[in-house]
Amino acid sequence: MLLKDRTALITGGASKRGLGLATAKLFAEHGCRVAIMDLDLKVTQDAVVGLPGAGHLAIQGNVVIKADCERAVAEALAAFGRLDVLVNNAGVTSPLRLLDVDPSTYERVMDVSMRGTLYMTQAAVPQMKKQGGGSIVNMSSVSAKNGGGVFGGSHYCAAKAAVLGFTKATAREMGPFNIRANAILPSMIATDITGGAVTPEMREKIIATVPMGRIGDAHEVAGCALFLASDLASYVTGSEIEINGGSHIN
Ligand SMILES: NC(=O)c1ccc[n+]([C@@H]2O[C@H](COP(=O)([O-])OP(=O)(O)OC[C@H]3O[C@@H](n4cnc5c(N)ncnc54)[C@H](O)[C@@H]3O)[C@@H](O)[C@H]2O)c1
Repeated sequence: MLLKDRTALITGGASKRGLGLATAKLFAEHGCRVAIMDLDLKVTQDAVVGLPGAGHLAIQGNVVIKADCERAVAEALAAFGRLDVLVNNAGVTSPLRLLDVDPSTYERVMDVSMRGTLYMTQAAVPQMKKQGGGSIVNMSSVSAKNGGGVFGGSHYCAAKAAVLGFTKATAREMGPFNIRANAILPSMIATDITGGAVTPEMREKIIATVPMGRIGDAHEVAGCALFLASDLASYVTGSEIEINGGSHIN
């Protein structure tokens, strides 16, 4: 029980095969009360019902809207009384090539990852300061390091690199308050983020580049989030943890 009596807020956690829901399940298995925030209330409520244990919370909200982020933290605090962990997981991808990136796609991809991470962090930090600490886990991507090319275009790579820089600055600024901030950088993981656009041929090509010979699973990302959220990582901040089966070894 690595998160016994702790509470967490996870954004973008309602997607059935997503990294956020896998993280919520693992946190709940470890004794954590979890609030999931996502765009659609019914889908989010259904996701929460499936979590192990009791006392979890579904919150409708859009991370791009500052008032939603502030309300989400307020709802979590009203239900739980404290907030120990924030997982900034909500994100959208887009495969558009450089010359095809239009203003609205740029804004959507950048905003959900970066603006959402900023607004949620701003909303959560005052409470974490009051409590004497907390852990913030931000979902970046290997695309931030290797330029993507599989499914995420230049705008997605930029968004995830922005999240990485933001994480390090947050760690530096919040260290004195015992608030840790770390980033997870997964490579291709089997979720629905591409909306089924990865063909079997593309999948085979990707697998051929992975020393471990397979695509990652959401629970493997959740395990990393659990480590970063827990006291096992009590001196880990500003770090970036890569999860990629060896496909990107620095
Ligand atoms: N799956 C991968 O291969 C992979 C690899 C690297 C990084 N990532 C990152 O991991 C995170 C989770 O990805 P996933 O594969 O689980 O995706 P997913 O599409 O399964 O889930 C993303 C969730 O975010 C929610 N969301 C989107 N916009 C939102 C907004 N404005 N406000 C609140 N919620 C919003 C969606 O409704 C969805 O439930 C993303 O940030 C993604 O960029 C994924």
